[in-house]
Formats: sequence, C-alpha cells, structure tokens
Amino acid sequence: MKSNQFKFSVAGAIVLVTLGLAGCKSPAKTSGSSAIPSNAILVGEYGSLTGQQATFGTSTDNGIELATNQLNAAGGINGRPVHVFVEDDQGLPTNAGTAVTKLIDEDHVISILGEVASSCSLAGGKVCQQNGIPMISPSSTNTKVTEIGNDIFRVCFIDPFQAAVDARFIHDKLGMTRVAVFTNTDNDYSLGFTKNFIQAFTAMGGTIVIQKGYGASDTNYQGALTAIQQAKPQCILIPGYYNEVAAIAKQARGMGITCPLVGGDGWDSPDLIKNGGSAINGCYFSDHLAMDDPNPVVQNFVKTYKAAYNHEPDSLAALGYDSANLLYAAMKRAKSLSPDDIRQAISTIKDFPGVTGNITINAQRNADKPAVIIKIVNGQFKLDCKIANPNVPLAK
Ligand code: PHE
Repeated sequence: MKSNQFKFSVAGAIVLVTLGLAGCKSPAKTSGSSAIPSNAILVGEYGSLTGQQATFGTSTDNGIELATNQLNAAGGINGRPVHVFVEDDQGLPTNAGTAVTKLIDEDHVISILGEVASSCSLAGGKVCQQNGIPMISPSSTNTKVTEIGNDIFRVCFIDPFQAAVDARFIHDKLGMTRVAVFTNTDNDYSLGFTKNFIQAFTAMGGTIVIQKGYGASDTNYQGALTAIQQAKPQCILIPGYYNEVAAIAKQARGMGITCPLVGGDGWDSPDLIKNGGSAINGCYFSDHLAMDDPNPVVQNFVKTYKAAYNHEPDSLAALGYDSANLLYAAMKRAKSLSPDDIRQAISTIKDFPGVTGNITINAQRNADKPAVIIKIVNGQFKLDCKIANPNVPLAK
C-alpha cells in the first residue's frame, strides 16, 4: 500500500512537472487531446520549426503563441479559448501540403496560419483552398500566394512593392545605377523578387550588369561570384534567405568583393549575423519592421516579447503576432464560426492596428503597408529609412 502510494505520487509528480513545463513553453498548444478544452476553437499553424529556415518558423510560432496566450487570458473569442495545432514542415514545400492536410483532416481546424516561405505557402495554400479553409500567411510576399483563391490572405506587403522599395533605395539613396542580381532559382520568392526588381530598377534608368543564379542546395558560389566581380557592379542584389546570404557574403568578401550586398525580408534572422559575421556589415535589406523603431507600439511589443522569450523579436515574430490577432479579431465579429463566415470577416478587416502597421485587407487579399530599409552596422540591425511609396523619389 505504502509503496503503491509512493509510486503513485512519483508518477503524479512527473505528470505535473511535464504538464508544468509544457504549460510554460506553450499553453496554447499542449499536446494530447485531453488537454484541449472541449469548447476550444481549433486553429492550425504550419511552419519551418526545423530545417534550413528554422528561425522563420520558430519566431513566427512565438508570435502566434504570444497572441494566443494573451487572447485566452482575456477570455478568448466570445468566451471560448483558442487552441493552436502546430505542424513542422521543415521548410519543405512537399511537407507543407501534407502538414495542412493533417491539420484539416485529423485536427479539424477551422482556419490556418502560415507559412513564411512563399514556396511553402503556395503548396499549403492550394490545400486550404481545395478544402475551403481560410488561411492567413503572416509573411509570404510572392504575388501568386493570394492568387490561389478567395480563402488565402496575408497581412504583409507583396514583392512588386518590396522589390521596388529596394530599387528606389539603391537608385536614390545609395546613388547607384549598376547592379548585379544573384537569385536562388529554386525559390518562388527569390524568382519573383528578381523579376520585380529588374522591372522597377530599369524603369528608373538603372542597369543590371549581370544576372546569376544558384540552387537551394548549393554551398559553393565562387564561380558565379567571379563572373559578378568581373561585371563590376556597384552593389549586388541577393533576394535569398539568410543562411544562403551569410555563406555568399563570406565567400564574396574572401574573393575581394567589397561592394554592399542588398536584399529583402528573407535576410531577417539573428543567424544572418551569427553566420555572416563581419562579411555582412555595411549591407542593406528591406523588411517589414525595425525593432529599433521608436514607435511605442513597436517598443511595447519588443518588451513583452523579450519578457516571454528572453531574446529580441524579429519581424517574423511581429508578423506572426499580427496574423493571429487579425484572425482572432475576424472570428470575434464573424456571424458564425463557419469557414464561409470567417473568410467573409477576414476580407472586410480595415485599419486593424498591428505591430507591423495598420492592416487593411485589400480586394486582392493582401495588405498595403510601408517597408523599412535596415542597415547592418557592427553586427546589428539598424533602421535606415521607411519607404511608403517607391514611386516617389527619395531625398539622398
Ligand atoms: N517574404 C519571404 C517569402 O515570401 C518570407 C519572409 C518574410 C522571410 C519575412 C523573412 C521575413 O518567402
């Protein structure tokens, strides 16, 4: 009897400790169906929690978790808590489709948040559209994502805008007219960005002195970089992801290429600095938000996020947070929680106060918001300028 009691209490303590730890990290997504309140509203999330772009997925996940915890602490959606099921797709488009199918068929979610990488959102978005489940991408910027259909939304700007912002910045602020472009030809985001940039930059009178490509699994860029070096660009546009950019920057500096490298939101990761080191100092990229923006809304988010996760947020975290909050706001005012009514409610959101700016879902289910240019100074991201309209020339 005694030993039984002892065993019981040890087992009980282990269960409590496990639940306690799980509760600490992620009360919004405790595993095991017994932990999910019976009246919970079920939401899905898919992202790259591991793999080559792991910081994209983990930052977004933290932002979604923060929003969900705050919502649930404040009474949920008309009294009902939200439970988020999270699927790791490892940043692979083939896994993204499977992850979304599981969320819909097995977990019975009624809306989905994700992905970050456009190639993954394209794969997952098709499954959402086929099933009539609304999806909000926090941060995929390729135009094709929301063109999938009326179930697919995003809370960020799109690449024709972002690439034109880079073109405007290079042309007006850096005063450069000769640019080389180095593209990841396996990546929808990189391909779309390249096309949009070339269009905008040549329309401003700029010249693309050379265009080169690399593959997602490449690790040696020296052949392409040699050709780029010979074309004597004033800067190199690399619309890729942070892990590739860090490696390219190091190899370029090793070969004596000293000109600035310029990129887009795909550079936003603490790992760009960690892996790129001094090779990326003095470089620039367009992004959704700068964490040193003095705007009190931004600073308040930075403070709350740091208190919860013990590190600085990046723009992925802020966009994850905004996407979840916007979905929850739409659910609160939807006529019912049927996918049709949720879709209808998302599509009519106007001037939603996000951390990344005011969000109005436009007729194409995208959001029109200003961009920032970030400069990397001594291993730190610094707000350089904000650009709301790339068609208007900038003062130098
Ligand atoms: N915009 C990128 C894409 O569509 C993803 C991304 C967004 C990466 C924001 C970093 C920051 O693939």
